[in-house]
Amino acid sequence: MSTEVQSNSSTDEVSLAAAFTAEHHDIDAGIEQYLADTAAPDPRQRAVPLQNAMAALRRHIYLEEEIVFPHLPKGALMMPLMVMRKEHGEIWQRMDALEEILQDPAGDSTGVEQACAEILVLLDKHNMKEEPVIYPHMDADLTDQEQEKVLKLLAGGEMPKGWVCEALR
Ligand SMILES: [Fe+2]
Ligand SMILES: [Fe+2]
Repeated sequence: MSTEVQSNSSTDEVSLAAAFTAEHHDIDAGIEQYLADTAAPDPRQRAVPLQNAMAALRRHIYLEEEIVFPHLPKGALMMPLMVMRKEHGEIWQRMDALEEILQDPAGDSTGVEQACAEILVLLDKHNMKEEPVIYPHMDADLTDQEQEKVLKLLAGGEMPKGWVCEALR
């Protein structure tokens, strides 16, 4: 299930802001798919879209913190970027907790569903700031070469094994 990516009006290339926003929607959709699938006979199969969404969300945060944020203007965005990194830490901890319940053979789906709902609330609060405040700068302040590199990573790049977001180091 992939959200359509809007083209940048000034060029034929895909806007980075649109691509990252589309990934927000895809991640939400994966979590929501898990929550909606209450009649699934096999809990492990039910968890697949959720596990894919968690992996995508960790890689999304990696790309933001390591590849995109360092190229954004430090002055005006210093405080908003600090808030983004702090919230990534909160989201990351919830993902760790959720994956722990998922791996527990005795764990029941109620705990997972509650963790999903909490993550959706955190993501909503995070994305509603990140999309209007941070993302326009990705298109405006990254060079064409930098944007191309990030788009390539977004399409197929992997997060280094064991990477954790800055707030938790
Ligand atoms: Fe973010
Ligand atoms: Fe994001």
